Formats: sequence, C-alpha cells, structure tokens
Amino acid sequence: MAMKLWDKGFEPNEIVERFTVGQDRELDMALARYDVEGSMAHIRMLQHIGLLTQDELERLLDGLQQIRDEIQAGQFCIEEGIEDVHSEVEKLLTERLGDIGKKIHAGRSRNDQVLVDLKLFYRQEMIDLAEEIQTVVQQLLALSQRHSAVLMPGYTHMQIAMPSSFGLWFGAYAETLVDDLHVVAAAYELANLNPLGSAAGYGSSFPLNRTMTTELLRFASMHYNVCAAQMGRGKSERAVAYALNAVASTIGKMAMDVCLFMSQNFAFVSLPDEFTTGSSIMPHKKNPDIFEVMRAKCNRLQSIIGEVSMLTTNLPMGYQRDLQLLKDITFPALTEMHDVVRTLHFILPHLRVNEHILDDPRYDYLFTVEDVNRRVLEGVPFREAYREVGMQVQRGTYKPHKEVHHTHEGSIGHLCTEQIGQKLEALMKRFQ
Ligand code: ARG
Repeated sequence: MAMKLWDKGFEPNEIVERFTVGQDRELDMALARYDVEGSMAHIRMLQHIGLLTQDELERLLDGLQQIRDEIQAGQFCIEEGIEDVHSEVEKLLTERLGDIGKKIHAGRSRNDQVLVDLKLFYRQEMIDLAEEIQTVVQQLLALSQRHSAVLMPGYTHMQIAMPSSFGLWFGAYAETLVDDLHVVAAAYELANLNPLGSAAGYGSSFPLNRTMTTELLRFASMHYNVCAAQMGRGKSERAVAYALNAVASTIGKMAMDVCLFMSQNFAFVSLPDEFTTGSSIMPHKKNPDIFEVMRAKCNRLQSIIGEVSMLTTNLPMGYQRDLQLLKDITFPALTEMHDVVRTLHFILPHLRVNEHILDDPRYDYLFTVEDVNRRVLEGVPFREAYREVGMQVQRGTYKPHKEVHHTHEGSIGHLCTEQIGQKLEALMKRFQ
C-alpha cells in the first residue's frame, strides 16, 4: 500500500506508521514550495558536479516547475499513505519522468532536505512578520501624533502617578515593537544560513558544491560544519520562538491596557458597538472580547519557548525523530502570530480615545511633581519644594496647575516620532 522512500520489501506496522508520521502530512503542506525550491538548487548543483547530465537536469527542472505550479494553484496534496512532502515530490517526479526522478536524492538526506525547507520557510515568515509589524508601528506612530495633546493618568503600583498622554501610550507600543524587531531580525538572520549538503548530518563523499546552493537559494551564508547544520534544527525554532515571545509580550500588554482602560472605572478608551460582544444574561454588556482573546493568544504564544526548549533539551548530537514535532509547535504559532498582528492592525483605527479624562478631580494629584518642579525652577531646593506640596496634599489644600511642560527627548512634549520611524527603517533594512 504505502510507498516509502526507504522501502526494503516489508510493510511497516500501521500503528507505528500513524504514530510516527503524526501531523506531517498536513503541516508539510506549508513547506511544499520550499521543498521544490531546495530540490531545484540541489539538482543544479548535482549537474554542476557531474552527477546529472544537462538533459536530465532540464527534464527534472521542468518536472519540479510543474509541481511548483500545482502547489501555487492549490492542486498539490500529500496523498494518503505518503509520509511527508519530501516523499510526495520525489514520487510525483518518478511517476512522471521515470527513472531520472530517482536520481535527485543523491548526496542528500531528508534530514538536510527538511532543514533547508525550514530555513527557507522561517526566513520568509520572519520577513512577513516584520512587514506586518512595520504596518502596525506606522499606525501607532500616527495615532501617537494625532493624540499627542490628550493627557491621561500614568500609574506606578497601579496608583495614580504622573501625567501621561495618548501620544506617549501609543508611541510606547510603537517603539517597543520596533525594538522587538531586533529579535525578529535575529531569527531571520539565523534562518538565512544554508544547511543543505549536511545530508544525514555528517556530510557526503560526493564533492558537493555547497557554495553554489548557498548562492542559488540566496542564503547570506551557510552553516559550515555539517554537524552544526544539523544542530540548527531546534536552534532555528528557538530563535523563532524568542521572536514570537518578544512581539507577543508587547501586544499582549497593550491588549491588557485596552481591557483595563475600557472598564467603566477607567473609561479611557472605547470601541464602537459592533466591535464589542454581548452577554447572554446581562442586557447592558459591551465587552472588549477582541482584546481579551488577543491577550490570551499572546500569553500562549509566549509559552512556546518552553515547549521548544523542553522538546530539544538533552537530545544528543545528530538527527532524532523528536525534531519532527518542532513543526507541531512553531507552525500553528506562526499562523496565530500573524492573525494577532493583523487583527491589531484592523482594530486600532476603531479605538476611541477619551479626551477629557483629567477633568475628573480624582486625577488632581497627578500634577504634584509638576508643582514641585515649578518651585524648583523658581529657586526652591527640591526637598523643600517636595515638602511644601506634600504638606498641601496632606492637609487637603492642594490645587493643581494642570499644564505640563515636558521637553526632553521621548517625553510628552517631545515624542521623537521621527527618530522612532528612523529606527524602524534601519531595522527593516536587515530583512533584505
Ligand atoms: N518528517 C521528518 C522530520 O520532520 C523528515 C525527516 C525524516 N528523516 C528521517 N530520518 N526519518 O524530521
């Protein structure tokens, strides 16, 4: 029944087969286009070193191109009984081209084949994620500018602390996401190293030209040591997990802020009705479920570092089938991360900002530091000014002057939007 690349004339046990193949037939679909791309580079190299004729190469390239078109048209699937995408592609080539299809796997193992597929996949995923983040950052910077004059309370210990603003609040998430791009770029750069040619993890006796496949697949460089290349499985995933962790922690915190700020006790922001959800029992409810689910997804996304680490910790050098299960962790996480970033992009323009928060006298004490500083500028020593204002608060006679004059870099009055934009631009250059 099932065709196996490693068929030696016996049928594998069905339970072992199902258990070990796991989710590969579904998950490998995401790798299909990269698998074909990797094979194209590999056979060009095989022809170059004399293991394929020019004619064989051309027929194989045509066959692979046809498969690539089918993948693009959504006509490709990994058939019942076929283990994985690598087996499916080789099977199709052999069915269509006969014996020359059987030549493509010389000097290669599925171990480095899946490694190269994953590198190409993660590399593209990190580019896509960075571009999605860039869009959200630009949106947040525009909101920060638009609401730069709208003050809000700043908190420490969840207690009213000092004046903040929507300019600062939006801008803070913009800049933090830009800083998170350092981690995304690190994952990208690690994915941009060629593992192909490491074969089963110990190289090959064919005179493979790894520089050639590195160039053909537009990798920045390669993992030179073949064992290091194999060890890259798990390392790439850790880096991706750190990238998702960084981004998810920022967006999760913002989602938490919005949930809090939408509470009637705060009422700093609101959403139009159609973006809220109701209750089956309480007729008045308009809940911020979208931000709650965003928070939950972000929290869960942050946990995959633990899963990746636990799966790979203490595995010995060399390929182990355990590594296959990394795909079960990272693939759905990447899908979820894109969904979160795109949903944030969708909802942000609908967030309404309360422009009169500080009219409420409960926020008067936000201005005590401003009043201390004004005295200091008039020549009163800081500790004395602090005590004067402190005693007014203590006696209940404090009256705020509700203006803020913050001028240093990154403060309410000087958001440095342009500089944050430049930081973004510089980071995006790393993804080329
Ligand atoms: N599905 C496998 C994986 O992702 C492909 C490599 C299989 N190699 C092997 N020696 N069984 O790890």
